[in-house]
Amino acid sequence: MDKQAQIGDATLYLGDCRDILQKIPDNSIDLVVTSPPYDDLREYHKSIWNMAVFYEIATILTVKVKEGGVIVWVVGDSVKQGSETGNSFRQALFFLHCGMRLHDTMIYKKSGLNHPDAYRYYQSFEYMFVFTKGKIKTFNPIADRINKYPGIRYMGTRRRNGSLKKELGQVKDVGRRYNVWEYATGFNTSSKDKIAFEHPAIFPEKMAEDHIISWSNPGDLVCDPFLGSGTTGKMALKQSRKCIGIEISDRYFAIACNRIGVYQKYLHENREGIECGI
Ligand SMILES: C[S@@+](CC[C@H](N)C(=O)[O-])C[C@H]1O[C@@H](n2cnc3c(N)ncnc32)[C@H](O)[C@@H]1O
Repeated sequence: MDKQAQIGDATLYLGDCRDILQKIPDNSIDLVVTSPPYDDLREYHKSIWNMAVFYEIATILTVKVKEGGVIVWVVGDSVKQGSETGNSFRQALFFLHCGMRLHDTMIYKKSGLNHPDAYRYYQSFEYMFVFTKGKIKTFNPIADRINKYPGIRYMGTRRRNGSLKKELGQVKDVGRRYNVWEYATGFNTSSKDKIAFEHPAIFPEKMAEDHIISWSNPGDLVCDPFLGSGTTGKMALKQSRKCIGIEISDRYFAIACNRIGVYQKYLHENREGIECGI
């Protein structure tokens, strides 16, 4: 390990996550929110990545997550000789092989599209596999889906024998989200932090935040072993979680430290205002 930085409740490590994860106690992480390199789709400075490396990391992560904890694995395939590699599915199945449960296969729908080749539709999504170690311990569902017909009205439910039972029910203004989450992506949209875009592949802040809210509680430990520009770390601090972030590239590590450092300073100066909803 070359470097370590402590920024508020975020502990950031520069190095290969295969080595650094080993130093973290077993059964200590409440939630992993991460996105590994997608095959060799992008060139990362100093990245060490292939399926053999993935198998090692998935095995370690499974041990480090608490009973009832969650791993959110955001991933997509590259296209080789006209076909998708299928490695996203291989990875999902390997987590099951390690003993994780597949809690939900969620979709991250992007506003930005990849140009297709002549024989393909536009690629507009990535997978967000949600794995749990045993029975899930935390679920704080986000309810922000606008109901088309809110108000009081009769709602029919069926009895076991098939007959209709009429009940007076209240349809709320908003309901629980579906498991396809859509985010506007791109410069100044995934994040307002200009420095974040010095990394080639950031995921939206809001996406990381929504997973952190959904699958953890304040004070919990959130980990991102592929920290990149520091998106998960920043959102963990925003939501009053502790965080461990690991990044192999010194260039991206510097971006993450800078970005999370600026945010921690902002939180320190404004926490009272934020907590009062100002
Ligand atoms: C898809 S990017 C993550 C981007 C991040 N979610 C963000 O919003 O900025 C994957 C990152 O993993 C890093 N990486 C690749 N292999 C690694 C390894 N073995 N250990 C730690 N980091 C690694 C790469 O350098 C890259 O920054």
